[in-house]
Amino acid sequence: MTKPTLLVRSTALLLCLLIFQAGSTSHGQASVSGARISSDQYALLSFKASLLDRADRLSSWQGEDCCEWKGVRCSNRMGHLIKLSFRNIDMDEYNYPNMSRSLSLSVGEMSSTLATLQNLRYLDLSGNYFNCTSIPVFLASLNNLRYLNLSFAGFSGAIPSRLGNLSKLHYLNVSWNDFQTMDLAWSPV
Ligand SMILES: *[C@@H]1O[C@H](CO)[C@@H](O)[C@H](O)[C@H]1NC(C)=O
Ligand SMILES: *[C@@H]1O[C@H](CO)[C@@H](O)[C@H](O)[C@H]1NC(C)=O
Ligand SMILES: *[C@@H]1O[C@H](CO)[C@@H](O)[C@H](O)[C@H]1NC(C)=O
Ligand SMILES: *[C@@H]1O[C@H](CO)[C@@H](O)[C@H](O)[C@H]1NC(C)=O
Ligand SMILES: *[C@@H]1O[C@H](CO)[C@@H](O)[C@H](O)[C@H]1NC(C)=O
Repeated sequence: MTKPTLLVRSTALLLCLLIFQAGSTSHGQASVSGARISSDQYALLSFKASLLDRADRLSSWQGEDCCEWKGVRCSNRMGHLIKLSFRNIDMDEYNYPNMSRSLSLSVGEMSSTLATLQNLRYLDLSGNYFNCTSIPVFLASLNNLRYLNLSFAGFSGAIPSRLGNLSKLHYLNVSWNDFQTMDLAWSPV
């Protein structure tokens, strides 16, 4: 049910971008239309399309240079996308994340295009609400991750054992989720 929806949305998004790009490069530049959408930008926009952003926190996510977008950082030297922070820092009166500022899912699961960001070292999803879905296994293929903060992120189920394959990981916070602790399959290598 949900996957085709996401696919349709992503496709629609890509089409819009292609049209936009074709329009914006029509005066002067002889470039293949659409070629300038970087794969990183595409991954981020697909990810965004799988999120419900009621507080409009990702409104800066437009324009050509995704390194300029809020929460995104690229390396100075190579321009690689190395850091993504979606952390919701707004707390309510009980010191829990203010849910009305949380990102949540607009479809069944977050977009796995995130896994194409292979230079990512830092990923912070904390303080958001991923609708009691499981931690996506594709996070385990982000081989360069040093920092992964999934605290207060509304995940449930089991912690994928494949996260143990993230050999460069220095920091993992999975506190305050709804894991079935008896199902913990976490096995660091
Ligand atoms: C939570 O966020 C909403 C929307 O930004 C805001 O109206 C509300 O006052 C916030 N609640 C607290 C306790 O800060
Ligand atoms: C995820 O949770 C939010 C907040 O409760 C809700 O508005 C949204 O519809 C949910 N998404 C899905 C796909 O069920
Ligand atoms: C991880 O996220 C939680 C919740 O946002 C925050 O309190 C904690 O400081 C973060 N950890 C680090 C090392 O940044
Ligand atoms: C993990 O996140 C919680 C807040 O959600 C924070 O209180 C705790 O200190 C963090 N743990 C570490 C080891 O950073
Ligand atoms: C970890 O990676 C190795 C090599 O890529 C693979 O053989 C192994 O099955 C992986 N472990 C898990 C738990 O996925």
